[in-house]
Amino acid sequence: MDTNSNSAPEQGTASVAVKQSRRRRKMRKTAAGAAALTVGLTGAGVLATALTPDAQVATAQLDDQAMIQEGKDIYDVACITCHGANLQGVQDRGPSLVGVGSGSVYFQVHSGRMPMMSNDAQAERKTPRYTEQQTLALAAYVAANGGGPGLVTNEDGSIAMEELRGANYDGQTQAGDVARGSELFRLNCASCHNFTGRGGALSSGKYAPGLDPANEQEIYQAMLTGPQNMPRFSDRQLTADEKKDIIAFIKSSKETSSPGGWGLGGLGPVSEALAMWLIGITALIGAAMWIGSRS
Ligand code: HEC
Ligand code: HEC
Repeated sequence: MDTNSNSAPEQGTASVAVKQSRRRRKMRKTAAGAAALTVGLTGAGVLATALTPDAQVATAQLDDQAMIQEGKDIYDVACITCHGANLQGVQDRGPSLVGVGSGSVYFQVHSGRMPMMSNDAQAERKTPRYTEQQTLALAAYVAANGGGPGLVTNEDGSIAMEELRGANYDGQTQAGDVARGSELFRLNCASCHNFTGRGGALSSGKYAPGLDPANEQEIYQAMLTGPQNMPRFSDRQLTADEKKDIIAFIKSSKETSSPGGWGLGGLGPVSEALAMWLIGITALIGAAMWIGSRS
């Protein structure tokens, strides 16, 4: 009797328990799915970052024979028609590259200006055709045939980047460097590039480009090598430290004004891509969990 009368509520508790455990299992499944998705996508993201040439620490072993040979192989395919078989230049196509140095090659190739399209009026910044490694190989080949101004490297041989942000840079751009850089920029660069480095028109359809996309090494090399209509600023005109202070100013002015978008710390395409990627991943996981919870 007792057992009978108790059976109904017991059944009730049992079915609630079953339902609860089913719900818990489902939630656990959804959570596991989301976790697996996150791990998978993070893995893919990490892999993509690792495979992006800019993410690697590039070292400039420009005297390496294999590297020089790699550079020559690329040169003979992509540059020879305009710059000649022995870098001597080709009439009406391209200037001699003898003695222009690895810095000039890095600036031109890393900013996507070279290889130039044959009918361009001005070599424009484009998506670079070559990886960091290939760019350095080309630089090695040109430097091996005539020397010239070199890339600025760190002690470990890596290409200097943030290290060029101010003469006193030690992990943080110094206010003093920015102030000095601002003054030097006003005196030496603003006539063409505008006070904020946004660029401006020059005569005969030429223009001085905005400076936001250029990385530290490219800015340094632009000053040192004077591309196209830009004057060359030798170390006698602007010492290495003065160049670094100008870079500190350009980078800080980029960070304080970001028209048409988020600043994202002024870190350029990498941080923008990362931000988009994170937003995309969050949306994807959200969608996956929503679908999972309904099935
Ligand atoms: C269609 C012709 C053409 C091709 C192809 C070409 N260049 Fe150029 N290059 C030019 C011209 C023209 C200039 C000068 C234009 C300027 O200064 O804006 C130039 C300038 C340069 C400079 C600057 C020289 C200096 O005085 O500092 C470098 C370095 C350079 N090219 C490297 C290369 C490399 C490396 C390649 C192959 C990956 C290449 N170029 C392919 C036409 C070409
Ligand atoms: C007489 C005008 C003039 C002056 C002065 C001048 N520039 Fe330029 N600058 C140019 C032109 C023109 C170009 C584009 C060259 C090209 O596309 O080959 C340029 C290109 C650059 C670039 C490359 C930007 C990119 O798109 O990759 C940087 C960086 C740069 N200049 C920095 C400076 C700095 C720093 C100073 C001062 C120390 C300076 N310039 C002074 C005319 C000038």
